[in-house]
Amino acid sequence: MNTKRLHVITHGCQMNVYDSGRMADVLAPIGYAPVASPDGADMVILNTCHIRDRAAEKVFSELGRLRLLQAQRALDGGRMVLAVAGCVAQAEGAEILRRAPYVDLVLGPQSYHRLPEMVARATRAVGAVVETDFAVEEKFDTLPAQTGPQGVTAFLTVQEGCDKFCSFCVVPYTRGAESSRPASAVLAEAERLVSLGAREVTLLGQNVNAWHGEGADGFAGLVRRLATIPGLLRLRYTTSHPRDMDDALIRAHAEVPALMPFLHLPVQSGSDRMLAAMNRRHTAAGYVAIIDRLRAARPDIALSSDFIVGHPGETEVDFEATLELIQRVGFAQSFSFKYSPRPGTPAAAAPAQVDEATKDRRLQTLQALLREQQGAFNARTAGLDVPVLFTGPGRRPGQMSGRTPWLQPVHADATGNLTGTVAMVKIVAATPTSLTGMLHPDAQERACA
Ligand code: SAH
Ligand code: SF4
Ligand code: F3S
Repeated sequence: MNTKRLHVITHGCQMNVYDSGRMADVLAPIGYAPVASPDGADMVILNTCHIRDRAAEKVFSELGRLRLLQAQRALDGGRMVLAVAGCVAQAEGAEILRRAPYVDLVLGPQSYHRLPEMVARATRAVGAVVETDFAVEEKFDTLPAQTGPQGVTAFLTVQEGCDKFCSFCVVPYTRGAESSRPASAVLAEAERLVSLGAREVTLLGQNVNAWHGEGADGFAGLVRRLATIPGLLRLRYTTSHPRDMDDALIRAHAEVPALMPFLHLPVQSGSDRMLAAMNRRHTAAGYVAIIDRLRAARPDIALSSDFIVGHPGETEVDFEATLELIQRVGFAQSFSFKYSPRPGTPAAAAPAQVDEATKDRRLQTLQALLREQQGAFNARTAGLDVPVLFTGPGRRPGQMSGRTPWLQPVHADATGNLTGTVAMVKIVAATPTSLTGMLHPDAQERACA
């Protein structure tokens, strides 16, 4: 079979990264192999994100550039199938076809399993092919086994969609209602990933700890079953909602050694007034109480969060409350954003929109504090011996890179190929974003999970 060149461009969250990998997998049996450049490709997939900013406009300008490559390919006597996937495709499918009629395929996040058939239709027919139905179970049932190359760390989507409807967020509209994959399917995929070389698996979902699939007792039960897979050294999960952080999951952090002591638990704001306006369904004190319980269960757990500044109605007092919450909790890492109105969401139509200059100023103040906390967190690791999962070569020859249990990147002097193993590293220097270390002299004997 003639190999056809497939180039996939991925924006957005880790679930999009996972989906891009699976799109390459479904296209492999019909002859498509991934290439690094869109130039001369037989198919280009633009996997899009709609979460913030001028997402749709960015897609149109990127499509404009791809159109030139598509035209060049036609001049060379070939054909480039151009597909738009992901959350912008789901939200703005009709608009894409209207403004970019040279696009061949538009497919929402639940339609990837139909790609081969869509490609066949697109290459036969004139005119675009569109699939933006929601049918999550069907998507997972019909995706083939993963074939693509896997690294030491892998993503595994266990849950899709969201029923929370935070005031500002498009996800419930682009990814649809919450739905969980059965435990048996998750376990089988994790075992396959491990057989392909994965040692760490990050379970993904827009609301991963709301997982309620068949075959395990809640998300904590699923984690416990996954932790029994031989060779699976580390487990992580993202993103969680505070409302679904139940006792069973907190207990799992105390009792399951493979579950890494790092949790991304978005709080968005430290003001109860804003949390109510955001429809988050938890308070600042409720969030802090969860953190306290997590720390009691696993004293070395590190926290990460998302923050939004300038949600409609946010006052200086509300913003101060967010700074206070950050001081109270102490975060190892965080993501923070200016509120961005999303068409069709309740907050976009709310009165009392905050002006840009205020959003800018609040974001800078917030980020300075978060940077300081991240720097301090990394600095505390200096001088310690920490178990590092090595993932590949380091920055310089004679170095390997990997991650600590707390997700910090490490470059360590090391001889031999340690990829896929966990070994003790003495951390000798810390910057706000990464660590440098030396392999412990008796690292091999002390290698542990
Ligand atoms: N499911 C996750 C994350 C969803 S999107 C959760 O519930 O937390 C990732 C982050 O993007 C959110 O946590 C939020 O901080 C940010 N975000 C979402 N919509 C946004 C908007 N309209 N403007 C600014 N930031 C937004
Ligand atoms: Fe969006 Fe809220 Fe759902 Fe997270 S919980 S995906 S922020 S609606
Ligand atoms: Fe973006 Fe969709 Fe993920 S909007 S953040 S790609 S769920």
